[in-house]
Amino acid sequence: MTHLFDPLTLRGVTLRNRIGVSPMCQYSSTDGLANDWHLVHLGARAVGGAGLIIMEDTAVLPEGRITLADNGLWSDDHIAPLGRVTSFLKAHGAVPGIQIGYAGRKGSTTIPWEGGRPQGEGRSLRAEEGAWETLAPSAEAFGGERVAVPRAMTQDDIARVQAAFAQAARRADAAGFDLLELHGGWGYIFQQFYSPVANHRTDGYGGGFAQRARFTVETVRAVRQVWPDRKPLAFRMAATDWIDGGWTPEEAVELARLLKGEGVDLVDVISAAVAPQARVPWGPLFQVPFSERIRREAGVATTAVGFITEASEAQAIVADGKADLVLLARAMLRDPHWPVHAAEALGVGDRITFPNQYEHWLSGRPGSRPLGDRHA
Ligand SMILES: Cc1cc2nc3c(=O)[nH]c(=O)nc-3n(C[C@H](O)[C@H](O)[C@H](O)COP(=O)(O)O)c2cc1C
Repeated sequence: MTHLFDPLTLRGVTLRNRIGVSPMCQYSSTDGLANDWHLVHLGARAVGGAGLIIMEDTAVLPEGRITLADNGLWSDDHIAPLGRVTSFLKAHGAVPGIQIGYAGRKGSTTIPWEGGRPQGEGRSLRAEEGAWETLAPSAEAFGGERVAVPRAMTQDDIARVQAAFAQAARRADAAGFDLLELHGGWGYIFQQFYSPVANHRTDGYGGGFAQRARFTVETVRAVRQVWPDRKPLAFRMAATDWIDGGWTPEEAVELARLLKGEGVDLVDVISAAVAPQARVPWGPLFQVPFSERIRREAGVATTAVGFITEASEAQAIVADGKADLVLLARAMLRDPHWPVHAAEALGVGDRITFPNQYEHWLSGRPGSRPLGDRHA
């Protein structure tokens, strides 16, 4: 039976355990450049024992940003600051991953704590506030408070965005990332194409399943050509739109099969709003059944993510074969040492290795080492 603290090998990369930090936008970059915040924020979670750390959604083109403060990989200037982060994560035993994306019609918003909106519901900016033109499969606004109407992409736009994903992948490799994830969820560009709710194109990129999936399949193919063979490629995918007449779990399984054939090693299974009318039944472990189904029916490794907080829940997901690893977002914000506490709760505290600076004082059972003369 697989244990949460068993290693996991994907291609030539081995995670020390099955616990990952889910990608989380920090809205803290300037001109897309990572900085000390990213080093400390992600570095703390490497020290805290996570096996995999997936850096936030990182824009492949400036126009593909959600906000002006998004992280970026649209130029070679972004490589060096990211390299500083990956070196630190590797030095502390975590595999550095990064998620790359393009917001499409959900771009051009204020950052959440300035617009007072929760993540994913930022207000659309007006031009005088620095708004920019957004591009999407169809010229239809997201809806709700996001009133800005995107321009429908031409086939040249599609090719340009796909090429930008490949360029960003090359830069992610140069920056030292060992796992790359394409952001195919949360109603961003991939979901805008594969969901019938957001895609009303009549050319070869819209219509039936194969046409709606085409943007995704072609982009994955372009990325896999430049992303090294020994490094795993992940795709974050919505298993459903939670909208009648929208993207279905059956289509998600089918897309996962296609992507596996294109060299995707891990499907990061979520479910998400591609439009505001979605009715998402948020709650503990609510996405785990989708992960289990995609893993079983598409025969591909999956993550389980969403409202996972307890060590026993994470252990059961992995042991029962519902996913190959768990990702945590908010629980990791609360507790960067979540893996340490999980190991202790599961009775395997000895499977955590602290950095040398801590190990001497903390290894063994909590409180088992007196300070005594070691402190001198
Ligand atoms: C601050 C914050 C930022 C997020 N940014 C991203 C992101 O960049 N990409 C993404 O796919 N999901 C993002 N998410 C969603 C998380 O990755 C995760 O799927 C979601 O929060 C559910 O997991 P949790 O219940 O463990 O928080 C974000 C979540 C939070 C809380």
